Amino acid sequence: MRPNFIRAKDSEMELSELMVPSNSNFSGKIHGGFVLSLMDKIAFSCASKFSGLYTVTASVDKVDFLSPVEVGDLLILKSKIVYTGRSSMVVGIRVNSMNIRSGEVKHCNSSYFTMVARENGKSAKVPGLILENSNDIRRFLETLERKTRNKRYQNIFDDMNIDFTSGHFLKIIEGENMKLDLK
Ligand SMILES: CC(C)(COP(=O)(O)OP(=O)(O)OC[C@H]1O[C@@H](n2cnc3c(N)ncnc32)[C@H](O)[C@@H]1OP(=O)(O)O)[C@@H](O)C(=O)NCCC(=O)NCCS
Repeated sequence: MRPNFIRAKDSEMELSELMVPSNSNFSGKIHGGFVLSLMDKIAFSCASKFSGLYTVTASVDKVDFLSPVEVGDLLILKSKIVYTGRSSMVVGIRVNSMNIRSGEVKHCNSSYFTMVARENGKSAKVPGLILENSNDIRRFLETLERKTRNKRYQNIFDDMNIDFTSGHFLKIIEGENMKLDLK
């Protein structure tokens, strides 16, 4: 039987893949979309192994591509569960690239994927996370903060009663690369 709680460190998973020319774009660097698909793959594996259930990707937090990945690099993805809800799990992912010959390692990006466990067409309960140190607690708190922040923004922009042509909002976009042509 699945335990009710699992240690964050026991959820850790690593995936390495050699970057071949078929994964590159016209400038000879690796496609961002290919890196994202590997991140989705490790998020799925990490969350499914943790929960003992198949999972789906519910949302992906922002991904900043910090440095390009070259053909011939070894891409190293590290993942870990950083938050557990009732049926959702947030997987923290860090992506590094390694130059095989020099051994130089570069940080390419980090992100958070929210995965939801599903069983018989419904969201299913997942084990909780055992937080063992200050870092585990920090990551859990950060995730809660991100969830609240995302909900807050969603609520503002989903509110159809707000008049976005009011001076308050126009002031915010003033100076941006746009032109108002309000009818
Ligand atoms: C993700 C999905 C299962 C959620 O369905 P739902 O009806 O909202 O499910 P529930 O209301 O039971 O919510 C389940 C959990 O998902 C979380 N959730 C739902 N949508 C979310 C989102 N956009 N971002 C983060 N978490 C989300 C809820 O907060 C809840 O978490 P909790 O159980 O830990 O409290 C559903 O939207 C879905 O199947 N989406 C498509 C997934 C998919 O195909 N992904 C691959 C895309 S190619």
